[in-house]
Amino acid sequence: SSEISRDLTTVLVTEEQIQEKLVELAARIDADYVGKDLLLVGVLKGAVMVMADLSRALTSHVSIDWMAVSSYGAGTKSSGVVQIRKDLDSDLTDRHVLIVEDIIDSGLTLSWLLENFASRGAASIEVCALLRKPEAAKVEIDCKYVGFDIPTDFVVGYGLDFNERYRNLRDVAVLAPHVYA
Ligand code: PRP
Ligand code: MN
Ligand code: MG
Repeated sequence: SSEISRDLTTVLVTEEQIQEKLVELAARIDADYVGKDLLLVGVLKGAVMVMADLSRALTSHVSIDWMAVSSYGAGTKSSGVVQIRKDLDSDLTDRHVLIVEDIIDSGLTLSWLLENFASRGAASIEVCALLRKPEAAKVEIDCKYVGFDIPTDFVVGYGLDFNERYRNLRDVAVLAPHVYA
């Protein structure tokens, strides 16, 4: 087995399942935004893979922008303290905004982002997240496009990291406890 795979216990969502789901979500998004100019906002760094594959599954015109925030730092738990590391380049006034995320864990990052975006005059703001951990929610996030609801295990891959590693896995997998113990 590869160097990386020794650090994983199980694959939770395969590359194939991810791609199939993103095609499904993209079809819904295409249909929901017909005739509208959509701005996709990816939340760096975790959302990079979702943005790349979701945006390419869309058939309509979109713009893409990025916001870098971080609440986890180097640990496995959300601090709840969200920091802007890079703000948007775009003005959100009258824009239809779809925030693209890899995962909703406690919900604290998106809750903060949604509140921050609400004050910028967008015409609409929705959320698309590949993964969601319903049992970890500290705040409820109204997420219109959800890929998979998953258990609370610490997962990595497809953009999700532990100490900045594992983002380059094609699947989403459970991190073996020996790695972070
Ligand atoms: C992770 C993940 C989400 C957020 C979800 O980002 O990518 O953005 O945490 O957690 P929450 O719902 O508990 O707030 P992180 O802060 O680790 O930054 P990263 O995307 O650069 O890894
Ligand atoms: Mn993130
Ligand atoms: Mg992270």
